[in-house]
Amino acid sequence: MPRQGHTDMVAFDAPLSRCRWSGSKEGRVLQTYRAMDPPKVGLRARHASAYALLLRYPPVPLQLSAMPATAVPSTAHIPATMRAWVCNHYGGTDVLALEMRPCPIPGPRDVLIRVLAASVSSADVRIRTQNLPRGFGLMGRLAFGLARPRQPVLGTDVAGLVEAVGRDVQGFQPGDAVLGVAGVAMGCHAEYCVLPASRPLVHKPARMSFTAAASLPFGGMTALHFWSKAQVRAGEKVLVIGASGAVGSAMVQLAQHRGAQVTGVCSTGNVALVRSLGAHAVIDYTEQDFTQIDQRWDVIADTVGASSFAVCLPRLNEYGRYMSVAGSLMEVLARPRATRRSIGGPAAERAQDLQLLMELAQAGALRPVIDCTYPFSELPAAHAYVETGRKRGAVVVTMP
Ligand SMILES: NC(=O)c1ccc[n+]([C@@H]2O[C@H](COP(=O)([O-])OP(=O)(O)OC[C@H]3O[C@@H](n4cnc5c(N)ncnc54)[C@H](OP(=O)(O)O)[C@@H]3O)[C@@H](O)[C@H]2O)c1
Repeated sequence: MPRQGHTDMVAFDAPLSRCRWSGSKEGRVLQTYRAMDPPKVGLRARHASAYALLLRYPPVPLQLSAMPATAVPSTAHIPATMRAWVCNHYGGTDVLALEMRPCPIPGPRDVLIRVLAASVSSADVRIRTQNLPRGFGLMGRLAFGLARPRQPVLGTDVAGLVEAVGRDVQGFQPGDAVLGVAGVAMGCHAEYCVLPASRPLVHKPARMSFTAAASLPFGGMTALHFWSKAQVRAGEKVLVIGASGAVGSAMVQLAQHRGAQVTGVCSTGNVALVRSLGAHAVIDYTEQDFTQIDQRWDVIADTVGASSFAVCLPRLNEYGRYMSVAGSLMEVLARPRATRRSIGGPAAERAQDLQLLMELAQAGALRPVIDCTYPFSELPAAHAYVETGRKRGAVVVTMP
């Protein structure tokens, strides 16, 4: 039976036999495992590099090093094992299995988090199913694993309590309530996850619940990334397609906060929600096709891949930007047409963006939109619901 909570924890004294540095664009992840655990977990830097390169990001140098003896954290009460949802194959929700796995051990610059809430995002579903936008199939396999997920524990965002910190970590203490983004390194759908302190990791605002905190980064950081790429300015007209989703609902709020005039595109049942997020106008796509309306926008953000740069061109003002959040590779690589351009690719995972997101949330500029929560034990049901593509905002799994 799985053991939970502080009371069940055993002192950690098992020898560390394996360790590995893996890279990402923003930082490195030290992965350490006890002897019984082969180091399967993690996005290897060379694959991250290939993926990033193909998406016009600079490659990441692979760094290998043995774990220094000083890496064992001062807090020695780390449970030997933990429950984790593992995804050992690509496929339907039946590939998800609840297993006992060795608890990750934080290295000198890492923070071990006891997970209390974690988002189940469209990214988790895309990785499990490998149902990626057209043109990204091979890149997806290179990035996440050719035959099966290289990191079998999915989950990109986590809210929880710091269980232990590495020797060189400053600013976090055991017991701190935190919100972190593992991003493509994943690993949050478990009772514990380890994040390098250099990753997006912040103290959770005291008045924000763990569930609310876990719901914010996926959509919020994507929205921040694309609005910063688009350089959305006050007074500009912005159209958000998929305004009721995790990304879209954050885009509506953050564009409105920047002073833009926001129009949201959503289905009938979500019109009231999108209005409540601050959209100045809403187009119900079941009744009206925005491409047929005699109106133009400075920025069109397509968060669901329902359109294309070519289709939106006549609806873009001069110097207009088409944001391809979920579009095909062709949209990402689309050449500018006169003064209008298409912007796409993966959103960055920057520590300062998460900090900004928390400040915006505390200032009331971004409110969590949570469709529903599931107990951790029902993660496959959460996956199934997210896979419908119909959720409103975020879906979160919580620990009992
Ligand atoms: N580039 C990146 O780095 C990045 C980062 C994050 C996410 N993404 C991608 O962005 C996409 C959106 O993610 P998400 O988490 O926001 O998805 P989501 O929460 O599942 O959003 C889908 C929402 O859009 C609505 N919708 C569906 N079809 C629509 C249409 N034709 N027009 C307008 N609204 C429509 C759905 O409601 P109804 O069905 O009721 O309309 C639902 O509320 C995913 O494909 C994800 O992979 C990309």
